[in-house]
Amino acid sequence: MNLSPDQLKLVLYPDAVLRAKAEPVSEFDDRLAGIAQRMIEIMREEDGIGLAAPQAGVSIRVFVCDVPAHPGEQPGEDGVRFATDGPIAFVNPTIIDSSDSRTSLEEGCLSLPDIRGDVIRPEAVTMTAQDLNGESFKIRAGGLLAKCLQHELDHLDGVLIIDKMSQMSRMKNRTKLRRLKQG
Ligand code: CO
Repeated sequence: MNLSPDQLKLVLYPDAVLRAKAEPVSEFDDRLAGIAQRMIEIMREEDGIGLAAPQAGVSIRVFVCDVPAHPGEQPGEDGVRFATDGPIAFVNPTIIDSSDSRTSLEEGCLSLPDIRGDVIRPEAVTMTAQDLNGESFKIRAGGLLAKCLQHELDHLDGVLIIDKMSQMSRMKNRTKLRRLKQG
C-alpha cells in the first residue's frame, strides 16, 4: 500500500484487509502522522468515535478514537477516564488489565454500515500504547471509552463485531450482512 495518506478511504466489509492481523509500527515518521491525521478525518466525516488503520486500508497497529464526555461523567478518583479530550492516536496498543465485570453494549462499526449488535466486553480496561512520536503512555478507561478501545484493538487482529455479537443480534443482522457480502 503506497497510497499517499490523503488518498486513504474508508474500507467496508468484506474487504480482506479487515481480516488481516496488522503489523506493528516501528517508524514514527511523517508518513505515520499523515495516516493518523487522515484516519481522524475519515472518523469525523463518518461521525464515528473510533477508526482503526485497517479500516483505512492500512494494515498497521494504529487506531484513533475520540469519545466525547457525557455530562456528569467525571474521571474517577482512580484515574479511570470515560472520554478522550479530543482525538487520540494509539500506536502498538496492548491491554494490560481488564475488569472482571463484563457488560453488554450495542455497538456499530463504520466498516459494517447499518449493522448494530450487542457485544459483551469487560467494563474497564487499562491500555498501554505509543503516541505518534513513539512515547509510551497508559490509559485506564471505563464506560464507552473502554468499549471503544477494545473494539478498535480487535480490528488490529482482524476481529469484527459480527464475530462477537449475541446470537440474537447475529440473527437480526443476517440479511444486511449478506447484502454487504454481495457488495
Ligand atoms: Co469498527
